[in-house]
Amino acid sequence: MSWNARFAGEDYLYGKAPAAFVAAQAWRIAPGSKVLSVAEGEGRNAVFLAEQGAAMTALEAAPNARAKALKLAQERGVKLDLIDVDLRAFTWPEADYDAVLACYIQFADPAFRAKIFDGLARALKPGGLVLIHGFAKRQPRYGTGGPGVVDQLYDLDLLRDAFPRWDVLYQADYDGDLDEGAGHSGRAALVDFVAQKPMR
Ligand SMILES: C[S@@+](CC[C@H](N)C(=O)[O-])C[C@H]1O[C@@H](n2cnc3c(N)ncnc32)[C@H](O)[C@@H]1O
Repeated sequence: MSWNARFAGEDYLYGKAPAAFVAAQAWRIAPGSKVLSVAEGEGRNAVFLAEQGAAMTALEAAPNARAKALKLAQERGVKLDLIDVDLRAFTWPEADYDAVLACYIQFADPAFRAKIFDGLARALKPGGLVLIHGFAKRQPRYGTGGPGVVDQLYDLDLLRDAFPRWDVLYQADYDGDLDEGAGHSGRAALVDFVAQKPMR
């Protein structure tokens, strides 16, 4: 089923609350920071960060998801700069953002993922933060979300190697209980990663 079809229902597939990782790490993003969220989905993370005072740009390819993200932003009284972007054909900005978020972008195979990670690095200002959250390579045993393709899942070595020389501020590979709408529900294997782009 296409992503757009998955977002066709009234319900928010992953709920309206931010991912626990985003809620836990948001303190690192100062109010007024310029933040980019890629493959934002129905807006749960971008709306939450906007509520914390971030100036949010969110990229998302599925029209149904964008419509629901805008509705959620209106409900919460925050502004989102929501852009129709297929990440396969995106011209990444240069040194424009204080923080970038990639939450459950595991639709990307290794080659596509490398391009996205390069783009995230490019989009960040020196000293900016990359925040990445997703399923760990152990996740297929749980079957509670994610692509079920090990190549598209993470471990910490993979993420550290993708951002060499960056200062890793937080990293965790753990099993936890997800309660994020119908899309992510139950025991899951997860990876969290926050790193700071070198100043030069
Ligand atoms: C698992 S969902 C995660 C959504 C959101 N980040 C969250 O955590 O709630 C994956 C998202 O990636 C989007 N997506 C998939 N392929 C994409 C692409 N090539 N370019 C942009 N977005 C894409 C889907 O439409 C969907 O919203």
